[in-house]
Amino acid sequence: MYPAGRPRRLRRDSFTRNLVREHALTAHDLIYPVFVQEGEKKRDAVPSMPGVDRLSLDLLLPVAEQCVKAGIPVMALFPVIDASLKTPAGDEAFNPNGLIPRVVAALKSRFPELGVMTDVALDPYTSHGQDGLLDDTGYILNDATVEVLVKQALTQSQAGVDIVAPSDMMDGRIGAIRTALEARGDIHTRIMAYSAKYASAFYGPFRDAVGSAATLGKSNKKVYQMDPGNSDEALREVGLDIAEGADMVMVKPGMPYLDIVRRVKDEFHVPTFAYQVSGEYAMLKAAAQNGWLDHDAVVLESLLAFKRAGADGVLTYFALDAVRLLQKQ
Ligand code: PBG
Repeated sequence: MYPAGRPRRLRRDSFTRNLVREHALTAHDLIYPVFVQEGEKKRDAVPSMPGVDRLSLDLLLPVAEQCVKAGIPVMALFPVIDASLKTPAGDEAFNPNGLIPRVVAALKSRFPELGVMTDVALDPYTSHGQDGLLDDTGYILNDATVEVLVKQALTQSQAGVDIVAPSDMMDGRIGAIRTALEARGDIHTRIMAYSAKYASAFYGPFRDAVGSAATLGKSNKKVYQMDPGNSDEALREVGLDIAEGADMVMVKPGMPYLDIVRRVKDEFHVPTFAYQVSGEYAMLKAAAQNGWLDHDAVVLESLLAFKRAGADGVLTYFALDAVRLLQKQ
């Protein structure tokens, strides 16, 4: 007797494995998130994200050049805002001379071919670390916050950003931002909506990096970010964002939420992205540093898994590493 089928036949040599592989990762699938700060020649490590630094603009420019050379299409900017500029209403978020607009303009003038994406959310700018404005009870106001987010998105668009990425999870913000962009004639500004963004503990190291961990204290974001127990709700969120004018949608975090990526892609067939967030990065780095995981192998395997799950691209702090590893393959 012999087995009815022998799937191992196609695994026997690397040429057959290469021939029948269904999914592949390329540099073009990657978006590189970076942390930017004021000053010159300033490089501050993020202790909970080994290998990730907060950089001043002069040090960010060579990184942008590396992205261009590597074929990484987009860099996503996250600001480290000085504590003295943080207010309850986060007004620095729409200062046309603020850090982000200046960095966007500098990057676009030096590297016009590199896509630049900016986060639309107030948490780096508020003294309480929440993504929106608070009422007297501490509840995060929706519609009043959306008005500020619109100003923030317009400021970024005015500075020349290619993609605005609202990560705040307020209701109706995509429609409000799209309407305001159209009204000003900014018809090319793309919106990548953080549509299914969960209230996740995996964002911890990011909050260390931008300094919102301290301001946020023991409070959480559960009254606006999604409950990790929900899946159908992600489809409702994505449906709303597409109807309101999003060009691309995102699921976040990434690895623990690949089921959501697959459902979104199957249901909507729109450009779908996933964010391998700071905690996922920290987890893999820590295990690799302990010698418990093979760093290079898990980086590429974890990113390929996003493609297999249906993602068109991945935001990952491993982007430059991954391209280097792909070139070695
Ligand atoms: C801010 C924002 C967060 C991340 C991206 N944009 C943090 C949060 O919602 O608290 C997390 C990214 C990461 O963990 O890598 N709205």
